[in-house]
Amino acid sequence: MRALAFLLFAVTAVHAQPRTPALIPLPAEVEVRGGAPFMMAGTTPLVVDAGDAEAQRIAGVLAALVGNTVETTPPVVEAAPGGTPAVRLRIDAEAGHGAEGYALDVSAAGVELVASAPAGLFYGVQTLRQLLPARVEYEAALYAPLPIPSVRIADAPRYAWRGMMLDVARHFFGVADVERVIDLMALHKLNRLHLHLSDDQGWRIEIPSRPALARVGGRTEVGGGPGGYYTVEDVARIVRYAADRFVTVVPEIDLPGHTNAALVAIPELNCDGRARAPYTGTNVGFSTVCVEKEETWAFVEDVVASLAEQFPSDVIHLGGDEVEELTAEQYATFVTRAQAIVEAAGKRYAGWDDVAHAGLAPGALVQVWRAQRADVARQVEAAVADGAQVVLSPSDRIYIDMKYDESTVLGLTWAGVNGVRDAYDWDPGALLDVPEAAVLGVEAPLWAETISTIRDVEFLAFPRLAGVAEIGWTPQSARSWSGYRARLGAFGPRWTALGVNHFRSPEVDWSLGGVE
Ligand code: ACM
Repeated sequence: MRALAFLLFAVTAVHAQPRTPALIPLPAEVEVRGGAPFMMAGTTPLVVDAGDAEAQRIAGVLAALVGNTVETTPPVVEAAPGGTPAVRLRIDAEAGHGAEGYALDVSAAGVELVASAPAGLFYGVQTLRQLLPARVEYEAALYAPLPIPSVRIADAPRYAWRGMMLDVARHFFGVADVERVIDLMALHKLNRLHLHLSDDQGWRIEIPSRPALARVGGRTEVGGGPGGYYTVEDVARIVRYAADRFVTVVPEIDLPGHTNAALVAIPELNCDGRARAPYTGTNVGFSTVCVEKEETWAFVEDVVASLAEQFPSDVIHLGGDEVEELTAEQYATFVTRAQAIVEAAGKRYAGWDDVAHAGLAPGALVQVWRAQRADVARQVEAAVADGAQVVLSPSDRIYIDMKYDESTVLGLTWAGVNGVRDAYDWDPGALLDVPEAAVLGVEAPLWAETISTIRDVEFLAFPRLAGVAEIGWTPQSARSWSGYRARLGAFGPRWTALGVNHFRSPEVDWSLGGVE
């Protein structure tokens, strides 16, 4: 009996310790105060400044989340009766939190969320969301109120670019799937969705001046499925949906290689003027547009002009990877001219790290996928010395199309297997020998050779994408695998509630989330 009493005491004592809440990404500064939580209810007023339409819209995001759960939607108001426990959401340009930062103070008496700009307020709401019990994610009438632990948080991201790339070319993913991806990115404060819109197996975007590209080039995909493409209206819808969640959609058309679908659709892009046969396999490196023909340059100009019109992103990505059918001189000439075309359209040029040795003009963005190769790392460092910046996507860490381990059914292994810890436990500040300001951020590519449904996307993305979000957001000094592993284990019930098909990796103790 004494032993049992001691055990109960010990368990109680452990639970009385304030524990870091299961926040991913971890905020820059979190103080867990302990003590009574704030009790959120369907009637809790969400108070915004008079006439602040953006704060009102973002407060509506929180109201809808809670309303979905308890069937009473908290009112968004400009003033609450004195003494009423309320959530106050404020944008104050003078508050000093930067473009994406915020301060959050939760006590039993009320919640204060302040940001300097709308994105910061939205991210503060995502933090509040993650502080609420996971059951808030269910769309059903569950009992209220909903406790929010008493915390004080000061937060801002480490990097401006926190991204995911979705390959919609090898297999096509429709608008609803892309919106689902955007929703899950926003939950983790990711802000760049890079769409890989063309490859050998398919062309996925309507270019009104070149209708054959999508109509003909969009008909195929890996394995012989029906393919598909986004119309101009579809793109507008995706871009708007993303912008509402502070995600910028970055378009990529891969050139001059990975172009078989375009070579099927437009015969003139081939040096012999003859249309290529459709390709539905998974080899790389065999295709190129004819770089010596002016028809090719007219095509590049038309495509870039249309991308510039359809996407507000200040970056246009023109691929440039894995070109085996051109001489080094032809390749360099192509990259130089392609960069100039993008810049003439008022946008910033981005390419995979293959472009680093092609003599880039200052201002280019190099997406690094082969940092493990010393020759590539040195080329990228030289490009940075010439005025480029980098986005880091090391394939042996955060290519989330790699298998988790040898037993994973989906995914590839050419860059190794990328476990949950492999994907998380590295410092983007130490990958290359470049100044800190040269690193714009991190991005996890998800190539789609082996995946064709949103369930597959979720399985390879989660939990690894959440780790990438934390790498991009949280200061290195605040990150550790053991701390992350514990929060990840406790995060599982939220993904379960959201129906996210996440991998229950044996690297993580999923029982930390309790009974789901
Ligand atoms: C790439 O993985 N070919 C950029």
